[in-house]
Amino acid sequence: MNKFWGPVLGGLEPYTPGEQPRVQGLIKLNTNEHPLQPSGRVMAAIQGVAGDSLRRYPDPDGQDLRAAIAEAEGLSPEHVFLGNGSDEVLAHIFFGLLSSEPNLLVPDITYSFYPVWAQLYGLNLTALPLDGNLAVDVALFAEKRGSILLANPNAPTGKALRLDQLRELIHGNPDRLVVIDEAYYGFGAESAAALLATADNLVVTRSFSKSHALAGMRLGYALACPDLIEGLRRVKDSFNSYPVDAIAQAAGLAAVEDVDWFRSASELVMRNRDALTLGLGELGFDVLPSAGNFVFARHAKHEGKLLFEHLRQHNILVRRWDKSRIEDYLRITVGSESDCAALLDCLATKISRG
Ligand SMILES: Cc1ncc(COP(=O)(O)O)c(C=O)c1O
Repeated sequence: MNKFWGPVLGGLEPYTPGEQPRVQGLIKLNTNEHPLQPSGRVMAAIQGVAGDSLRRYPDPDGQDLRAAIAEAEGLSPEHVFLGNGSDEVLAHIFFGLLSSEPNLLVPDITYSFYPVWAQLYGLNLTALPLDGNLAVDVALFAEKRGSILLANPNAPTGKALRLDQLRELIHGNPDRLVVIDEAYYGFGAESAAALLATADNLVVTRSFSKSHALAGMRLGYALACPDLIEGLRRVKDSFNSYPVDAIAQAAGLAAVEDVDWFRSASELVMRNRDALTLGLGELGFDVLPSAGNFVFARHAKHEGKLLFEHLRQHNILVRRWDKSRIEDYLRITVGSESDCAALLDCLATKISRG
């Protein structure tokens, strides 16, 4: 605490990002990064950025990238908002769009950044419990008053809602805003973007960090009706007019255009996810069905904390939360085949020792 800190800062509990240790030989399966390098077309686009584009400020609204995203979604550029990672897009949504309702509904087990933004911007957050299978209880959300924010698939569980369940929530009450965080878009979940044509109370957010292998680039976007996008632009232009630099805009454009890379890279992750799920099941883990590039798993006989520590001692990093109902679960990023094999071998050694 410092005498110059503002009143909110003192009581704020900031988000703790997954560790990024610089340890030689570390198998890093803790922050849901992609096992592949980004597409070759993306790397060429980055190298092709001219010095003149860096000398100048970037296009403040990323018009070419917005047009490409819009075209891929069958929307117009006025439906697209870009930000410095979907975290920034979500923060602007909290500030600009979610603070008008007295209450924001989120699941009790979800992306742990949501309560931080709520605190930062003074929103009243109500956490509704996941059901007994750790799935979002749609009926519970439908009956309560307030805006809704859901990660789909949810993190860290990996469980996804179907499009008909999302439709029920979004169309069920056009007077409330529903935000669907699709950071893990591309790994098998149905997208709520299909509902944008018929819903002006919906915002979908997406990230280039996960399915485009561009976590280091910091690029994300929102899809919504033009009025909501205009609201986000007003927040952006009152905060930082140039959140997406020229290199990120060029990389994003190439990533959107390289549909073949996206498809085959996502297929690889889903294949590795199936194999990892099978391997963990054979070791006695209960693995939730995942639509993300990670799995959420617990062992019938071994405490999550001890398994986490065992992996860590062997230079394998996964993620776990000291939180009731999920303390025994490990969230494991779907890595390369060899990373997943090393993880399974390491767990097998521990489990066979009893
Ligand atoms: C559910 C969820 N939403 C949003 C994000 C933020 O992604 P980005 O890298 O685009 O800021 C993450 C990152 O892990 C996430 O898990």
